[in-house]
Amino acid sequence: MSFDLASRLAARRADNLFRQRPLLQSPQGPEVVVDGQPLLAFCSNDYLGLANHPEVIRALQQGAQQWGVGGGASHLVIGHSQPHHELEEALAEFTGRPRALLFSTGYMANLAAVTALVGQGDSVLEDRLNHASLLDGGLLSGARFSRYLHNDADSLAKRLDKAEGNSLVVTDGVFSMDGDLADLPALCAEAKKRGAWLMVDDAHGFGPLGASGGGIVEHFGLGIDEVPVLVGTLGKAFGTAGAFVAGSEELIETLIQFARPYIYTTSQPPAVACATLKSLELLRSEGWRREHLNQLIARFRAGATQLGLELMDSPTPIQPILIGDSARAVEFSRLLRERGLLVGAIRPPTVPAGTARLRVTLSAAHSFEQVERLLAALGECQALLPSEEGNQCTA
Ligand SMILES: Cc1ncc(COP(=O)(O)O)c(C=O)c1O
Repeated sequence: MSFDLASRLAARRADNLFRQRPLLQSPQGPEVVVDGQPLLAFCSNDYLGLANHPEVIRALQQGAQQWGVGGGASHLVIGHSQPHHELEEALAEFTGRPRALLFSTGYMANLAAVTALVGQGDSVLEDRLNHASLLDGGLLSGARFSRYLHNDADSLAKRLDKAEGNSLVVTDGVFSMDGDLADLPALCAEAKKRGAWLMVDDAHGFGPLGASGGGIVEHFGLGIDEVPVLVGTLGKAFGTAGAFVAGSEELIETLIQFARPYIYTTSQPPAVACATLKSLELLRSEGWRREHLNQLIARFRAGATQLGLELMDSPTPIQPILIGDSARAVEFSRLLRERGLLVGAIRPPTVPAGTARLRVTLSAAHSFEQVERLLAALGECQALLPSEEGNQCTA
């Protein structure tokens, strides 16, 4: 017996599912250099344009001067520095919850929260389109794992009726590959009726959504009673790295005591927390970033609809164009790249079979003129793309 990795990789290529890593040779921003080619990018999650902001960079540099580079140890040993603690207090205040706990990545925050809250004899109910880290957390927890239909409160209710033990309902706030919003009021109502807890991972909502960037809970006006477990990530609109869970005193203390992905890992570099404190300040105070972003979203949707492209029901900076077939999506992305634009083709297993898409993401750092360039290139490439029957499109 041996591991036949070559066949596995060959099959991946044959299915048009082989993934490659574009090599970024510049900072994040609309204009990047990738594999030696200057490109206009519409695929970053830096929704507010903070990843390369001079004040955030300065905060990181000053943080490194004062605190050094490495976290040094786990939080429970000697890795919990003053900047980590200050950031937790600022995030608690921002989310209007008693406490927040900082993690090195969103993947770990999700694994930590789910596995610390439910186990054997309990139930975890997840939207079928949840992010992989939430699904993995559910599987790892040992609780009864059930996936309800996307954003469907009735489907959730039926599963909750059969649930055992403590029940945790888990959903993305903004769905990462579709850009639509979780129907939180309806999901909360079903969870509440049955004494279940709701956990929301708002990785893509913090920053773009809510009057002060407070994400989907601010958008819907929901508090800790409706959403007792709130997760945010810091590598997207915050422009830095890491994640947090916000909630009650007991929730955070439970995570510190029992969440293995929190306990058994080195803390993030404290200078990153210094940078995030600055980006949090900008995210909250510079409302013009959200306003500009919303105008770009509206312009993109109007232009893409006019081109006859199939958009999804998304009011967020994630604006996928549904293509269907993986090979077609890859070819569309390649044609765009030939014209100097970078838009990722997202394929199964990241999205369900037959729903490959171009995941266009917009940022407050984009200009209207850049969005016009994208629309013009989309129109041009669409016309060049073989139709699904293999003919050239004429329109
Ligand atoms: C919805 C969602 N949750 C969690 C994560 C993971 O966060 P991180 O990149 O910080 O690990 C991502 C993407 O990265 C995401 O899209």
